[in-house]
Amino acid sequence: MTRTLDAYLHDRKAGQLVQSENGQLAFTYDVDYVAESGPPISVSMPLRQEIYDDGTVRPYFSGLLPDERARSRLAAALGISPGNAFGLLEIIGGECAGALSLIPEGADLPDPSSDEPEPLDEGRLARLLATLRVRPLLGGEEGVRLSLAGSQDKLAVRVADGMIALPRNGHPTTHILKPFIAGLEGTVENEVFCMRLAARMRLDAPAVTKATAGGIDFILVERYDRLQEKDGVIRKLHQEDFCQALAIPPELKYEDEGGPGIARCQNLIQRHTARPAADRLVFQKMLIFHYLVGNADAHAKNCSLLYRSPTPELAPLYDVVCTAAYPHLSRNLAMKIGGRAVPDTLQLEHWHTIVLPTPPARRMLSATLRHMAQAIGPEADRLLEEMDAEGIHHPILKIIRRIIATRASHVMRVTEKME
Ligand SMILES: Nc1ncnc2c1ncn2[C@@H]1O[C@H](COP(=O)(O)OP(=O)(O)OP(=O)(O)O)[C@@H](O)[C@H]1O
Ligand SMILES: [Mg+2]
Repeated sequence: MTRTLDAYLHDRKAGQLVQSENGQLAFTYDVDYVAESGPPISVSMPLRQEIYDDGTVRPYFSGLLPDERARSRLAAALGISPGNAFGLLEIIGGECAGALSLIPEGADLPDPSSDEPEPLDEGRLARLLATLRVRPLLGGEEGVRLSLAGSQDKLAVRVADGMIALPRNGHPTTHILKPFIAGLEGTVENEVFCMRLAARMRLDAPAVTKATAGGIDFILVERYDRLQEKDGVIRKLHQEDFCQALAIPPELKYEDEGGPGIARCQNLIQRHTARPAADRLVFQKMLIFHYLVGNADAHAKNCSLLYRSPTPELAPLYDVVCTAAYPHLSRNLAMKIGGRAVPDTLQLEHWHTIVLPTPPARRMLSATLRHMAQAIGPEADRLLEEMDAEGIHHPILKIIRRIIATRASHVMRVTEKME
C-alpha cells in the first residue's frame, strides 16, 4: 500500500513524502509551493516539480530520525523495523530539527495556541527520563511526536519560567534535554564544560546548563533553531545537518564509512551559505576547538546549515564532548585532518590542508591555531572556577583539563617555526 505524509515547512505545506509499495521513498513539492517559489526543504532538493527519488529523499528524511542504537530501541518499542524510516516518521515526525513537520495526509497543522504543554514536576520528569532509556524520544507516548537525530538519549522540551514542560502534538519546543550516558562517567559535566568553553573561545554555542531530576543528571541546551518572540510565541528556524544537505545517509556519517570529510564540508559551505568565506573560517575554528578540547566525534551530522533567511548560514556549534577522556572510545578523529585521524600525529602540514594553499591563508591558520592554543588553558581555568561556584564539579573535568593542556602544547610545538 502506498502511504503518504504531508511535509510542512514552517506553516506552509511544501510537499508530500510518499512510501511506495516496495518501500521506496519519494518526495514531491506541491505545485503551488513551486509556483510561489517557497524555500526548498534542503539544499539536496532544490525546488522543482519532478519527483525526488529514494537516493536523495531517504538521507534527508532518515536523517531526521535518531541514529543507530537509539533508532533500534525506538523501533523495538514501537514494534516496527529500524529500517522503516517512513513508519517511524509517521509516529514521531511532528516536531523535528529545523522547521519541517510531517503530519498525516490531509490533516491540519496543529495550532500552537491549543494544548498547553504539560509542566513536569521532578517526579514526573524523573519517570520520563527513565522511560527515555527504553523508549527514545518518548516515541509512541500519547501525543508526543518529536524527532531528533543522534545516537544518545534525548528529549525536546519547552522551558518557560524555569519550568520544564512537555509539549504534545508536534508543538514547538525550546530546549533539548540529554541525560547522562550510562557507562561514561560525567558526560553531563563534560558537555556543559565543552560547550561553555566554546562560547568563551568566541564560537557561537547555545547556552547549556546541568540539571537533575530524581538523581538523574541531564544537560539542558537551548535550541538555536527556535526563537522565543516577545509575546511568547516560538518561531522555528529551519536547519539541516551536513549529511542531509549532501544526501548522505546517517549510517554513513563517519568519514571512514564514506561520510563527508573536511573538504566536502567546506565545499558545501562554499556553495550554499550566505557568507562562505566567513563561515569557512568559523568552521575551521570549530575544527581547531574540537581538536583542542579532545572531541573526536565531530562528524558531519554534528554540523548544520541554519536558515535565518532563504540562504543558510553555518549553524552554531553543538554536541561537543571531550571523548578523549574515555580511554575505551575511539581516539580517531571522525573527520581526518590532512589524511590523519590520530590526534597526536598532526603536524602543521596536515593542518594546512584545511585552508587554501596560499601563504596568507596558511599564515592566518597558524596564527589562529596558536592564538586558540594559548587562550584555551586560561579560559578553561576561569570556566572551571565559574562551574565550581555554580556547584558543577566532577573528577572528569580534571582529566579534560589535562587533555586540553596536552593538545594545546602539541599545537604550540607544531606551529613553533611561525614565531
Ligand atoms: N542546541 C541545539 N539547537 C538545535 N538543534 C540541536 C541542538 N543540539 C543538537 N541539535 C540537533 O539535534 C541533533 C542531535 O543532537 P546531538 O548531536 O547533540 O545528539 P547526540 O545524540 O549526542 O549525537 P551523536 O550521535 O553525534 O553523539 C543534532 O544533529 C542537531 O540536528
Ligand atoms: Mg550529534
